[in-house]
Amino acid sequence: MTPLRRLHFRTQPKAADAPALRRLVAATGVFYPQERAVALELLEARLAQGRKCGYSFLFAEQGAEVVGYAAWGRTPLTQRTFDLYWIAVAPAAQGRGVGSALLRVVEQAVAARGGGNLIIETSSRPVYVRTRRFYREAGYRQVARLRDFYAPGDHKVMFCKVIAAPTGRRQAARARRRSAASKP
Ligand SMILES: CC(C)(COP(=O)(O)OP(=O)(O)OC[C@H]1O[C@@H](n2cnc3c(N)ncnc32)[C@H](O)[C@@H]1OP(=O)(O)O)[C@@H](O)C(=O)NCCC(=O)NCCS
Repeated sequence: MTPLRRLHFRTQPKAADAPALRRLVAATGVFYPQERAVALELLEARLAQGRKCGYSFLFAEQGAEVVGYAAWGRTPLTQRTFDLYWIAVAPAAQGRGVGSALLRVVEQAVAARGGGNLIIETSSRPVYVRTRRFYREAGYRQVARLRDFYAPGDHKVMFCKVIAAPTGRRQAARARRRSAASKP
């Protein structure tokens, strides 16, 4: 597949993202209805409360169309741990580097906030085989597997990557600019 061209990233959510996100998350075909509802709740919380809700968003757009998004944030009550709450790419855009690009930009934003553990939780269900490979290829290490967590036979699989804080004056300045630009 050819890489997607003219991909733009946006961090500021808007009301029109809600129907787009609902469609995108449903189209992936992997999430249960209650998970899809939670995905939308994070966005609604962000739209209603702004940054203080703790959820940062990153939208990947091609023209006016949202082709993928990620939601992440600092894990409450931790000093240097972040959670990737959600990542999804529209089926027609998958396998072209959009997910990798989203993850890279989230990692840069985590680095700009001092770095630390970036945690991703997923399911052991076969439908997530490609997703788990995607995380491994992006440098995430499986750190835990909680048996029967979601349902009997459906385990929680936790991945982690330690994101380094930027070093050097020039890098740190670049990170600060990026952080300011990507403020949720
Ligand atoms: C997991 C997910 C976010 C990955 O996004 P993606 O855009 O498909 O990922 P990428 O394209 O960056 O990388 C995935 C694959 O494309 C390949 N790829 C990456 N860049 C590419 C490019 N420029 N051209 C062609 N192929 C490319 C990668 O090698 C990888 O191959 P693989 O699937 O054989 O391992 C996406 O598949 C998805 O939304 N899945 C359903 C929802 C989901 O599981 N979300 C996570 C819940 S925990």
